[in-house]
Amino acid sequence: MLTVVVGGFFGDEGKGKIVSYLGLRDKPEYSVRCGSINAGHTVVYNGRAWKLRILSTAFINRETKLLIPPGALVKVDLLFREIEETNSWGRVFIDWNTGIIEDQHVERERRDNYLADRIGSTLQGVGVAMVDRVSRRLKLARDYRELKDLLIDVPGTINEALDRGSSVLVEGTQGAFLSLYHGTYPYVTSRDTIASAFLSEIGVGPKRVDQVVVVFKAYVTRVGGGPLPNELSIDEAMKRGWFEKASVTGRVRRVAPFNLELARRAVMLNSATQVAITKIDKLYPETRGVREWSELPGRVRRWIEDLEDQLKTPITLIGTGEDSLHIIDRRREYGLL
Ligand code: IMP
Ligand code: MG
Repeated sequence: MLTVVVGGFFGDEGKGKIVSYLGLRDKPEYSVRCGSINAGHTVVYNGRAWKLRILSTAFINRETKLLIPPGALVKVDLLFREIEETNSWGRVFIDWNTGIIEDQHVERERRDNYLADRIGSTLQGVGVAMVDRVSRRLKLARDYRELKDLLIDVPGTINEALDRGSSVLVEGTQGAFLSLYHGTYPYVTSRDTIASAFLSEIGVGPKRVDQVVVVFKAYVTRVGGGPLPNELSIDEAMKRGWFEKASVTGRVRRVAPFNLELARRAVMLNSATQVAITKIDKLYPETRGVREWSELPGRVRRWIEDLEDQLKTPITLIGTGEDSLHIIDRRREYGLL
């Protein structure tokens, strides 16, 4: 069983929370975190919070092994720090061909005024390291002695697990409209961010995918430059309780109401089989912490059902608070569990 989780807007939709829930609930043998260190995924569980930039948020299930695929880019010091912070020694594995970001990439990116001022890059060195990868001079995980004990063949491992009927979770990063190809170019990140791109990153063919979950937040946020239709003022965002700060850079996130047109396109680009929607408690405060569909007020259920009709896709996971378990899971109702 292969499930891919991706973002449907501009990142920060709550993929970290959804993946951490799926880790606990579905108990995948492996969870694969794609992308790179510009993307911060937050987990809140049992009163503790983590902000992860390399490891999958499914780490909260202690039985799940955490993989880093060949298409990812990591920084060695950050990787070791996250293994410590999540207490994950012995269950983190990295592909031989994963790219390594060095301090020089971060320094080079920080000097790039175009990326800093026009694009609003997170300046973590990811784009510059990607340029080096394309120019065939980036060092890979296999070149680092300190990674020796963590190295495996990630595509081989995943495909073999799927052959055995085991489950694998894939955690995409950012969102459809930050995609290098499908986003609001040039205000985009340095990789493709749709489901098929993450399959390529991990080395699994499209026929092996069972579920593609596209995650939306109940409103839209975006950090950095680029278009954001119906953008609200900071005052208005605060008034609505939608004020947020970015987890990697600490910048204030720009805010807009839920955007149906973008959501439809994200469903199309990813061939979504399911939709997850997070933070509905920020639209309807009375839903906070609710875990049963039947306990949602009628008007909230109608809002979700109407959205489901518009997207022609079942809304199976509904986030009602920050904890990994603050979720309504309708997959059984839909015959998906
Ligand atoms: P870069 O990928 O760090 O160069 O940033 C390029 C653009 O993508 C900027 O607008 C960033 O704010 C945005 N971006 C990159 N990663 C993320 C993310 O994980 N969440 C939200 N925005 C991101
Ligand atoms: Mg984020």
